[in-house]
Amino acid sequence: MKTNRRAFFQKGAILGVGLTLGSLGLFAKNKENLAQNASDDIFDAIKNRRSVRKFKSTPVPKEHLIKILEAANCAPSPSNRQAWKFLVIQERETLDQIKEECIKRSGERNRQYFTDYLSAPVYVVVLADTKTRNPANDVIGGALAAENLMLAARALGYGTVYCANSIPEEVSKQVLNIPDDYKRLCITPIGVPAEWPKTPKKKSLEEVVLHEKFK
Ligand SMILES: Cc1cc2nc3c(=O)[nH]c(=O)nc-3n(C[C@H](O)[C@H](O)[C@H](O)COP(=O)(O)O)c2cc1C
Repeated sequence: MKTNRRAFFQKGAILGVGLTLGSLGLFAKNKENLAQNASDDIFDAIKNRRSVRKFKSTPVPKEHLIKILEAANCAPSPSNRQAWKFLVIQERETLDQIKEECIKRSGERNRQYFTDYLSAPVYVVVLADTKTRNPANDVIGGALAAENLMLAARALGYGTVYCANSIPEEVSKQVLNIPDDYKRLCITPIGVPAEWPKTPKKKSLEEVVLHEKFK
């Protein structure tokens, strides 16, 4: 009887240790998978981000927009100044004003181009404060914020484009009452693409990577 009890407890202990080790293994595996998924997500967003210039009218839910803006606001910035502003435009009337101003300046022949370009439900203007002690660096911070924004939008299934010239700075400044001491870095749409453009040819690593010394 004693031997039976000991055997029972021994079996129980072995089973207990086995289960604990098993679940620890499972936990570790899950953690590994989670880490794997997280890094896949960021690489997917980086690789699949495309400049998109025509959109469906599908709305962008507020919680997506907030997530995207939070990602932008997480970017590195000189001395953590975050000398940026994100001006969000969702009113069709305002977007139409921008469109008409662009057409007025570039010619009626570009009407379709700007109609497509301004077809997204949301646009974000990325601005950098030029009154800081190092405005040139704050412009770089703003550009990094814009990249964060575009990658987060891509991760949620939206297209964007870093538009610095197609919609001239003066147009957005004029229509949106942006003060002179803010530099407009870009304006980007956020929307579901009419279609995802093909990846344009990118330089190979051999063309852009150098090792140890510039040669
Ligand atoms: C500083 C900068 C300025 C840009 N300006 C414009 C622009 O004015 N209009 C536009 O349609 N795209 C603009 N782009 C987007 C580029 O054309 C685009 O990133 C490039 O063609 C590569 O395509 P991809 O973004 O799909 O990889 C700009 C991109 C950068 C980084």
